[in-house]
Amino acid sequence: MASIKPTPDLRPARINALGEFAASIAHEVKQPLAAVTLNAQACLHWLEQDPPRVDQARTALRVVLEASTAASAMLRSLHGMACQAAPQRQPLVVNDVVRDVLQLLRGELRQQCITVTESYAPDYQLRADRVQLMQVLMNLILNAIEAARDLHDRARTLALHTSLADDGLRISVADNGVGIAPALAERIFDPLFSTKPGGTGMGLAICRTIVQSHGGRIWSEPGQPHGTVFHLSFKEYTLWTPSRS
Ligand SMILES: Nc1ncnc2c1ncn2[C@@H]1O[C@H](COP(=O)(O)OP(=O)(O)O)[C@@H](O)[C@H]1O
Ligand SMILES: [Mg+2]
Repeated sequence: MASIKPTPDLRPARINALGEFAASIAHEVKQPLAAVTLNAQACLHWLEQDPPRVDQARTALRVVLEASTAASAMLRSLHGMACQAAPQRQPLVVNDVVRDVLQLLRGELRQQCITVTESYAPDYQLRADRVQLMQVLMNLILNAIEAARDLHDRARTLALHTSLADDGLRISVADNGVGIAPALAERIFDPLFSTKPGGTGMGLAICRTIVQSHGGRIWSEPGQPHGTVFHLSFKEYTLWTPSRS
């Protein structure tokens, strides 16, 4: 008897994805907001001196201005991403999406002293939902940042790589963090599986749901000599060509 495949209900994944997404937004604006508070306090302190230390106050105010400008730029771009209600597939240049996500997380990466290297294949396109693809990359990079947190004996690195492999268009995210114990490698994509205090354990489960709904695969490998590499691979892609209009 032919089996009837139920249509996958992606709604729960989407709702969880929003939770995870909200967590990444909070994560991103936390630092600029902390800088605003600290420097506003410092500014008041300098102005309350007798005589007021105007130069120091001005420096602190400049930092306030920079941090609040950075936070609003971040919110604007995240808002643009989140306002897109239903998944919308459109041709996306994968290299651009990788660059956009890196841009969003640049401050956090710098703060954590993580050196980023990038290497790109020619501009291939995927038919994909931009928000979802960004979400996948964001979750992977946030995990990489967390994997580097307890690393004090070597420089922290993150490598982003797009390439054409035998199985299709690949995006790889490699860190040199704590790595994944081989016994756990099968379980990391399970919903709610987390080794972190306070971890949601939903990041990779969401990544896998999204990647598979785009006909792709996601897996991890041990990094050499340290850390972890996550690969995404998509069979269907096209080469981007500039329109001749
Ligand atoms: N880059 C990585 N390096 C080491 N371990 C990782 C990495 N990415 C994921 N993991 C492991 O997989 C688990 C599940 O990850 P995830 O689904 O994102 O949930 P969470 O980050 O909330 O724990 C993590 O708790 C961690 O043990
Ligand atoms: Mg995570």
